[in-house]
Amino acid sequence: MPSDPQRAADLAALAWLIELGADEAIGDVPVDRTALPERAPWAGALAVAATAPPASPALAPPAPAPAAPVVVPPAGAEGEAAARLAEGAGDLAALAAAMEAFDCPLRAGARRFVFADGTPGAPLMVVGEAPGREEDIEGRPFVGAAGRLLDRMLGAIGRDRAEAAPERAVYIANVLPWRPPGNRTPTPEEVARWRPFLLRHIALAAPRVMLVLGNTPAQALLGQGGITRLRGRWTEVEGRPALPSFHPSYLLRRPEAKREAWADLLEVRARLGG
Ligand code: URA
Repeated sequence: MPSDPQRAADLAALAWLIELGADEAIGDVPVDRTALPERAPWAGALAVAATAPPASPALAPPAPAPAAPVVVPPAGAEGEAAARLAEGAGDLAALAAAMEAFDCPLRAGARRFVFADGTPGAPLMVVGEAPGREEDIEGRPFVGAAGRLLDRMLGAIGRDRAEAAPERAVYIANVLPWRPPGNRTPTPEEVARWRPFLLRHIALAAPRVMLVLGNTPAQALLGQGGITRLRGRWTEVEGRPALPSFHPSYLLRRPEAKREAWADLLEVRARLGG
């Protein structure tokens, strides 16, 4: 029997937690969940929209993916054509026209070209992966379940794609403008093909801060995946501060990641001066 009563109580509490199945640490630092000041305002949406069964509190976060660069430069003539077309676009309308005309096998299987939404020139630019089914039908990025969650997340930091005022506005685009068949993850070749256009898109939209959602835009813009490791750490993309974070689709599947996503959003808001 331990002589220290506090120690005995702690050991009993630990035994009780282990009995409940909470036998694995899920973070690097302890969190007093009884004293958390702020709850992500969009957390409810996650619970409603989640399709996966609720995560066990004992579930460890996914292991970070290896940090190897995965962007394959587009080969020869194709890479040169993409770079020339992108560089030649003097404004966003010209860039959209050049992208829509650019030869890509994905075009044959997609319905609509999806360029961007929100306010060009907004201080915040969000970069996602590629259109899904709803986006392919509507021709606008992030209008499906993940998009509705994204809207709530952005709303929680005072941003709205329908608002033009700089203190409220946001601009939203994807790495790919065409839907990959069956919503599969874009291949490294596809990411590389569209990268010159994405870089030009960023230069023309000229955001002050960027939010990079998920592995695909991280691969395109940071040259590496492994969003679990990258998220929450500021980096620079084309001379602009960029914060990688979880993609809303991932948050729909893994609601336990919402706390980190919320921390990232607060970082973005602070960086924007809000
Ligand atoms: N996911 C994305 O990354 N982009 C969209 O436009 C929709 C879903």
